[in-house]
Amino acid sequence: MTDKDLLQLARDARKNAYAPYSDFAVGAALLSTDGRVFTGCNVENHSYPAGCCAERAALYTAVTAGARNFTALAVTGWQRDVAPRTCMPCGICRQALNEFSQDLRVVTGTPDDIQVFKLSELLPYGFGV
Ligand code: THU
Repeated sequence: MTDKDLLQLARDARKNAYAPYSDFAVGAALLSTDGRVFTGCNVENHSYPAGCCAERAALYTAVTAGARNFTALAVTGWQRDVAPRTCMPCGICRQALNEFSQDLRVVTGTPDDIQVFKLSELLPYGFGV
């Protein structure tokens, strides 16, 4: 699975985003160490805090299926009528992902300009007990 392929799966998942309030549709694709890919999209709600980000939707689907170790996460998101551009995972999603794979590769950007970060670089002092 190349970074470009994973980013494409995130873009495919983005098509199912339910984002009537922000108009900001996000898709994510999470690659587990056993080769499975879990996707997610953001799902908003009338009661705003009840919404969920695409990355956590993918993560929670993965954990539900028994996957707990991940090598890469691709994320993509942009607002309607705005050109696709780099979308970074929010702080809550960084912390949620950090629970399972601190050395996760985070793939973002656009297919023509892919950017890769280490989760540990995006969340250098994650919470832990
Ligand atoms: N969103 C995500 O899905 N992932 C992020 O990392 C940041 C934000 C969603 C939440 C909300 O539905 C919309 O993008 C605007 O904040």
